[in-house]
Formats: sequence, structure tokens, C-alpha cells
Amino acid sequence: MERAARIAIAREVIGMIERDEMQYANEPAWEVDIGRFTDKARFLKEKEEFFLNRPQLVAYSADIPENGDYYATSIAGKPILLTRGKDGKARAFLNACRHRGVQLAEGCGHASTFTCPYHAWTFNSHGDLIGVPSKDSFDGLLEDRGLIALPIHEEIGVIVVHPQPDGHLDFDAFMGPMKQHLAGYHMENLRLISGHSQTARINWKHAVDGGVEGYHVPFLHPQTVGPMTLKFFRHIDFGLHHSLVNVSPEMLAMRDMPEEEWPEYCGFSVSNAIFPNTIVSVGEGMAIFQRSDPSDDPGRCDYNIRFYGWGRNPDAEQKARDEAMAAMVLTVAMEEDMKVQSNSQIMMENGAVPSIIFGRREQNVLRMHKNYDRLIGHDAEAALAVERLDEAAE
Ligand code: FES
Ligand SMILES: [Fe+2]
Repeated sequence: MERAARIAIAREVIGMIERDEMQYANEPAWEVDIGRFTDKARFLKEKEEFFLNRPQLVAYSADIPENGDYYATSIAGKPILLTRGKDGKARAFLNACRHRGVQLAEGCGHASTFTCPYHAWTFNSHGDLIGVPSKDSFDGLLEDRGLIALPIHEEIGVIVVHPQPDGHLDFDAFMGPMKQHLAGYHMENLRLISGHSQTARINWKHAVDGGVEGYHVPFLHPQTVGPMTLKFFRHIDFGLHHSLVNVSPEMLAMRDMPEEEWPEYCGFSVSNAIFPNTIVSVGEGMAIFQRSDPSDDPGRCDYNIRFYGWGRNPDAEQKARDEAMAAMVLTVAMEEDMKVQSNSQIMMENGAVPSIIFGRREQNVLRMHKNYDRLIGHDAEAALAVERLDEAAE
């Protein structure tokens, strides 16, 4: 989204502020079954359909900024190794040694070779097998034993990978108009500040829902990000992807300023849900990357959140500001958002609520769940009727 597009969004928001009007979805509020968060069969279907057979936005270019950098991540439990070769090209591999499958790299760093801890087979950053102790003991079975490469595409500062070696990856088709929406932020200029990952006690969808829903912000975050955000959220529908426009109080002052004097990011940030579960959040101060991947059970996910600043060479003052901001947002994510999301998950599993409701101020969540249901052929009405019957029988 170039500045002209940002100005157009800011104009719409200023109109909302002047009319004191919040955005409501056109479609009605929706009561749905809780099985979408707790049912194992549905969970396995989602894992297969949404994660293991579709392209995934797994990283920013800033996760492997220099030639020779690597970053080990995963897609729904499948370990992925991203490398940037001497040629500057980003590559993706299954992060598994071709001898007996041991994981080769963890975390991120800089390395020209990866040596397996078990028997020291060694691969280079292009995935070639370049060293095998007692090579002659393998009787010619070492042909084509390089790392298994995955389809990858890097553009506009993001990296998309298909988790199947023979998967079809068409970046433009995958991103759709979201590509243009993100392009004007020049995310290729990001720099990693810090990251955090853990197993979280939530269904993967809770973290996506929370990332692009503004309704909760003043209530759950009154001392932290709440005061940094006005209630005039806007929602942009990109088909499978969704965007939430977060308006800062700066926008109030912009009303009386000529457009040329508006800040570069026009007083708002955007949090984008890239199907199925990546949250890409960008604004003036920083960028955030979040993925919540399904692991083995519907009530748990592999949660990964990372923070990025702008510009490759920050001075000490900028670095300190970035680190303080990242620490604050991490506290909000874990102590505020994750805490209630886990609570919601556990209450659902305990049968404390027969159903849940998405309201018209939760437009992105409404639409994302409609997409999920449509793609796996789930009938929420029918599931709700079954849950009601079960409840009546108890
Ligand atoms: S499993 Fe990697 S060298 Fe044996
Ligand atoms: Fe939140």
C-alpha cells in the first residue's frame, strides 16, 4: 500500500471519527459451535487442508538478512530450514538429515555448513551433501542425498514456502491484492529485534482471531496498547486474507493538517491475517510476525512471535527504543491476549459454554471462520444443533 492508499484509508477513518461511528460488518452476528476449537477430527482436517497442502507465509526476509544466514522454523510440526546462500538466494528445506532424519539446525544464525550431531553428515546452505564419514560404507547409496528442497518465493520482504516438495507455489495467486497492500511498507528494510516461541495452551485459531480483532483492545489492554489505539478500527477483506486498521490518537491531530504534513504511515498500523494463521503487523514503530501452528492436539499450538524494527543500522538509542517496545508488546501478547485465549480454550474444553458468538464488530473473525468452514465443508448450524442436543441430554 503506497502512501496514496494510506491517505485514502486515513480519510475514511477521519470520516468515522467525525461521525463517531464504528465499523460494523454487513452480515449478522453469528453463533457457532465450539467444536471448531476442540474437536480432534476437525483439527486434523484443518492441519491437512490449511497447513500441509497450501503455501505458508513463514518468515520475513529479515529472518535471513545476510548471505549465509539460516532460520529454523516449522509448519504444523514439520521442521523447515531457511537459508540464504552465497548467491543471495533464499532456499527452503525439510530440516532433516538424509541419513536417519535428525534435525540439523535450530534457531537462527550464520553458517556455511550444517553438520548433523548424530554421525556428522554435512550439508551446505544450498542443501548439497558435502561430507560423510566412512563414505565407502554406503555402497553407492549416497546419490541424491541432499536436503529435500521445498518450493519458496521471496518478494516484498516476505518469504512464502510450500511444505510439500512437489507443491505448487504461485506467490501472486496466494497473496492476491494483499501483496499490494503490504508492498508499500517496504518490509525488506526490517531488522529482527527479538523473538519468542513456546507451546501455547490454545487452539491455533485463537491467536489469529485475537490478532485482527479490535473489539477487545480497550477492555483487555487498558494500561498498555489500549490507550495507543482509538476505537475506530477498519476491516479490509482480501478474500482468504484480512486486514485490521489500528488507528492511533495521532489521527485526531491530522484532521486539521494538510495531507503533505501527515506522517509517512498516516497515523495507523495494519495487522494482517495471511491465510491460514500468519499475522503480519506493520506500522510506524515496528513490525510483528506471529504464527500459531497446530501441533498434536486441538488445545495446543506452536506459538512463535517475532519483533522487527526499521532500518538495517540502528544507533544505540534506536536499539534501546526497539527493545523496550518489543518487550512491552511481548508482555501484552503473553500476559494479556494469551492469558484470556487459554482461558477461553480451557472453558470450551470443560463444556462450560454450549456455543460462542462472533459480533458485527468482529468482522475479520466472522469472515475467517466462514472461510475455514467453507474450505473443510463444515456446517456450523448443524454442528450447533448437535451440541445443543448433547447439552439437553446431559
Ligand atoms: S542421522 Fe544425521 S548423520 Fe546420521
Ligand atoms: Fe489483544
